[in-house]
Amino acid sequence: MTNGAEPLTLVLVGPMAAGKTSIGRRVARTLELPFIDTDKRVVSEHGSIPSIFESHGEGHFRALERSAVARALDEGGVISLGGGAVTDAGTRELLREHPVVFLTVSPAAVADRIATGGRPLLDGDDPVVRWTQIFEERRGWYDEVASVTFDTSRRPMQRIAEDIVAWRRDQE
Ligand code: S3P
Repeated sequence: MTNGAEPLTLVLVGPMAAGKTSIGRRVARTLELPFIDTDKRVVSEHGSIPSIFESHGEGHFRALERSAVARALDEGGVISLGGGAVTDAGTRELLREHPVVFLTVSPAAVADRIATGGRPLLDGDDPVVRWTQIFEERRGWYDEVASVTFDTSRRPMQRIAEDIVAWRRDQE
């Protein structure tokens, strides 16, 4: 952020189960900023993600998500986006000019993390294969919006959060 009058922001993007919420919460605590998870905002306003997908389709979910991202950026803080937010051109445009951290993770590391369900795009026989395919399809969009990239496959979430805090402080 270059304009001191703008709210301080740090946005986390990355594939499903990359650790965006868990790391984002830790980063926010250290930086003493509010933490906003845009998926949680959408759920609290419109009901569960599977039910939104089922009743209104993915396009409708992306529009609700874009609106939640816009409001979160206006408020400021550490903001975690859902894995597919970057597929929406309007959301990508909103992220321009903001510091964006891209969290990557390997398919091997993600297997346990996605076993919990609740992600309609992973429904089917082999969630890891599906997850990998979706990540590959979106990688270009993540790279497009990212200011910096951290991998979450091997190191504890707390250590990754510390690295992100150090990077963010370096930007000031
Ligand atoms: C999605 C990721 C989910 C959630 C929704 C769609 C996606 O968020 O927004 O299920 O398209 O990758 P997480 O990345 O927090 O799982």
